[in-house]
Parts: sequence; C-alpha cells; structure tokens
Amino acid sequence: GDHRIDIRKLSPDMAGQVVVFRARLHNIRKLSAHLMFVELRQQTATIQGILQEHGSISAHFLYWAEHLHVETIVKVVGVVQEPKAKSGEVESCTIKNVEVHIHELHVEGKPVQPLPFTVHEAEVSKQDVAREDDNRRVISDRARQNGRIIDLRTTAAQSVFRIQSAVCQAFRAHLHGEGFIEIHTPKLQASASESGASVFKVNYFNRPAFLAQSPQLGKQMAIASDFKKVFEIGPVFRAENSNTHRHLTEFTGLDLEMAIDEHYHEVLRLLDSTFKAIFSYVYTNYREEVEIVKHHFPSEDLVWLEETPIIPFAEGIRMLNESGWRDDHGNPLPEDEDLGTRDEIQLGKVIKEKLGTDYYVLDKFPTSARPFYAMEDPYNPKVTNSFDIFVRGQEILSGGQRIHDADTLIAKMEKLKMDPSSMEEYMEGFEWGAPPHGGGGIGMERILMLMLKLGDIRHATMFARDPRSLPE
Ligand code: ATP
Ligand code: AMO
Repeated sequence: GDHRIDIRKLSPDMAGQVVVFRARLHNIRKLSAHLMFVELRQQTATIQGILQEHGSISAHFLYWAEHLHVETIVKVVGVVQEPKAKSGEVESCTIKNVEVHIHELHVEGKPVQPLPFTVHEAEVSKQDVAREDDNRRVISDRARQNGRIIDLRTTAAQSVFRIQSAVCQAFRAHLHGEGFIEIHTPKLQASASESGASVFKVNYFNRPAFLAQSPQLGKQMAIASDFKKVFEIGPVFRAENSNTHRHLTEFTGLDLEMAIDEHYHEVLRLLDSTFKAIFSYVYTNYREEVEIVKHHFPSEDLVWLEETPIIPFAEGIRMLNESGWRDDHGNPLPEDEDLGTRDEIQLGKVIKEKLGTDYYVLDKFPTSARPFYAMEDPYNPKVTNSFDIFVRGQEILSGGQRIHDADTLIAKMEKLKMDPSSMEEYMEGFEWGAPPHGGGGIGMERILMLMLKLGDIRHATMFARDPRSLPE
C-alpha cells in the first residue's frame, strides 16, 4: 500500500524519511523559476511543501506544478525536513516545526475552475486584511453560504462540526449514564404536535400528513409505553417564515422525556446536568477546536455556575422592569405574556451583571405562552410547570411537565379549540394510562451558535434550510 499519513504526525525526528500523503493545495507561492512553496492542507492542518529544481526534479515538473490550481487534491511524495526558514518557523502554516521537500505530486481530484472563492481566501481574518502584504479579499457570509462546501473546508467550520459531534456525543453519553434509551420517533404525522400554524404539509397517498414539528408526541407515547426515560436526536421541521439569525425550517432536536417521581424539577435537574456535561466535555476535550473557532468568531468561554439560577418567569420580568427596560410603547412588561427576542437578550445582560452567569433557567412560564400539553401549576393555573433554558440571553431549550391525565388533556384541547380526534394514536397513550412525566427539547444548532457566539445559526448547520432555501 501507500502508507498515506496524517501530516499532524510528522515531527522533526522524522527528518530524512520519505512520506506519502494526500492533501489539498491550499496556497501556491512561486519564488523563482527554480523554487516554489506550496501550503498543503489536511482538514485543519497545513504544512509547507517545497518544490525546488535539482536532481530528479525538473524545470518541466516545476512549470507544471506552478499551473495547478488551489484546492486540487494531490498525492504528495516527499522527504521530511526541518524548516529552512531563518526563524525556524513556517509562519502561515499550522505545522511549524517540519516541512516536506516534494519529489512527486499526483493530481487525485481536480476542481473545475473558477471556484467561487478559495479556502485560503475564506481563512482571511481581520488582522490579515489589515496587512499590506496580504491582498486576499473578504468573503461575505452570503458568498460563503452559496459556496458552502468550500466554506466548510475552513478551519473554523471544520472545528464547529467537530464540536457539534462532541455535543451529541456528550448528550448521548450522559443520558445513557442516567439510564435513558435512545429512540426514533416518526417524522410523518397525521397532525401537528405543538400548534397548527407551523407544519409542512405533505401528500401521503392522497391523504394530508405533516412533518413533525417536534418529537413531542412520539416521546410522550414512549413514556405511556413504559420506557420511562427516553431521548432522541433527530430532525425537527418548522414551516415558520422566520428569516432571523436563529431560526431554521429544519433543525436537529436533542430531546428527552422521563417519568417523574415527585416533582417536575427532577426533569430540570437532569437537563441541567446534561447541559453542564456538554459544556465541560466541549471545553475540556475540544479546546483546540474552540480556540480555532474563536479566531474567526471572537468569544469568551461560556460562564456557568455550579448552582444554576432557576428564576421564576415573573421574577425575570420584574428584574427587567427594574432595570428600566420598557416595551415599544414605553410601558413595563406584563408578567403573563411571553418575552420577545430583544427582551430575552436584555434579560440575559441583566442576569449576567447581577448573577455572573451566561446560563440560567426561567421557570413557571405563563400558561398562555405554552402549548396544550403543558401542565398547569396546581396552585396557580395562570402559570405552568414549564421552563426555558437560556444561554447568553437566548433560548436553547423548552421543557416542563406534561398533562398525563386523559380527561384533563381533552378538556385543555377543547379549550384551545383543538380536535383530539386528529391525534388518536397520541390520545390512546393517555386513555390507556400514562405516568406523570416531563421532558425538554434542545436546539442543537442553538447550543453551538450560542456557546461559540457564531452570530448566525447558519454557521452551526452544515447545509442550512431556511425559508429562502430550495429555490425553484
Ligand atoms: P421556540 O424556539 O420555542 O420556537 P422561538 O425562539 O421561535 O421559540 P420566540 O422568539 O418567542 O420563539 O418567537 C415567537 C414566534 O415568532 C416564533 O414562531 C418565531 O419563529 C417567530 N419569530 C421570532 N423572532 C422573529 C423574527 N425576528 N422575525 C420573524 N419571526 C420571528
Ligand atoms: P420549542 O418549540 O421551544 O419546544 O423547541 C425546542 C428548542 O428547539 C430550538 N428551536 C429552533 N432551532 C432552530 N430553528 C428553529 N426554527 C427553532 N425553533 C426551536 C430552540 C428551542 O428551545 N416540544 C417542545 C420541547 C419540549 O417541551 O420537550 C418544543 O419543541 O433551541
């Protein structure tokens, strides 16, 4: 075989060894007719390659190599050496203590020219643009989205998606450790799950069906089936025409549902420990990726407290009003209406200042702001046993206790003018007896966007689906 290697495994003590590897041409710099430098890239690593005319390396070969395009995939055969540069460092490459003297280059994958932009250009930072000797252009977010496959090759995107994988890994591992099982609920449904407004309708053998707007129904049905503790990582579809930095029409939900022994805060505690497991796992095991992302999307590490503040919704509103915050008409905010995005972000700032945390819970949401399945507080039906979890002032999770009694559920649905007959499968779960239970749903892309301060949820999803996607 070829014994192709990972360039990150190269070290100065391998000097003199012949190595073979596959890489992309990241950047080509010709110094003279006899000498050129190529930056060779494997994912987030780049190494300097030298092509110098002498011995078996002909002028013809150099001439050919000089006309290769960046992003070409090449098989490289070369000799490892310590950098010849005076400083002993190859400034622009991530691998600085070794370089490769190239003997052979074979093209293995050839991009059609011209590319919308190159990875070398897309890697440009604000500092680079300010430098006189760097004439790379700045690639706009829109151009990046349009050339997403190339944008995904950048070190920042490569790191974001490793962290995404780590988030799911930590979620799974933590919940398995807590005795949960992973389930997969159907995405084709006869009715909406949260409300009627935002579902995609599909043609199901000439009957209408809907794409699940959350695994809510399925995960509750699993609880009614006595699975006790379940979680799911799966697609969630929302037909909302929300063109914002934080809404997608298809996102990935990290959902869980569990039977409750005594109090719905059992669910909250479990979710809280899950978030903390995710944060710690990422910041300790993916430190290098986090730092790479920070280079492109500046941020401070997320701050969370050992004891997560659980702030009743009404108390959160009071904190906002006391800070002098007012609605668009100059009035204080009411305690029984959901918060708007701007209000939430402001509350995040107030809480950061007062309590010193980016991560907190708002509990006891007004009944009017929650879906039909939310359990009302038995002592105050104006509020529910439900909560949202926030990171840096934006929502990453909704959850709470559910109504598990069939009669109560039917009464609630009738009150909201919903038709239980369209949800037969779901209703059977309650009619045939379900234990007290609760759960929550996390937006995977939201965790990434907010932890890493990516600014736009499109950076946290590989191929974004928003209302403008899929043009005719
Ligand atoms: P959830 O994550 O629970 O769906 P959300 O973040 O979508 O919550 P809110 O911010 O309370 O919920 O917004 C309420 C509704 O308004 C949602 O349907 C949301 O999609 C939509 N929405 C929120 N912000 C905007 C916006 N800037 N432009 C258009 N629609 C918006
Ligand atoms: P909710 O509708 O709040 O709750 O959704 C749960 C979480 O999903 C994320 N999210 C989104 N992410 C990207 N684009 C969107 N359009 C979008 N909408 C929501 C958010 C949100 O907190 N069934 C309940 C959950 C439960 O109670 O278990 C639900 O779906 O991070």
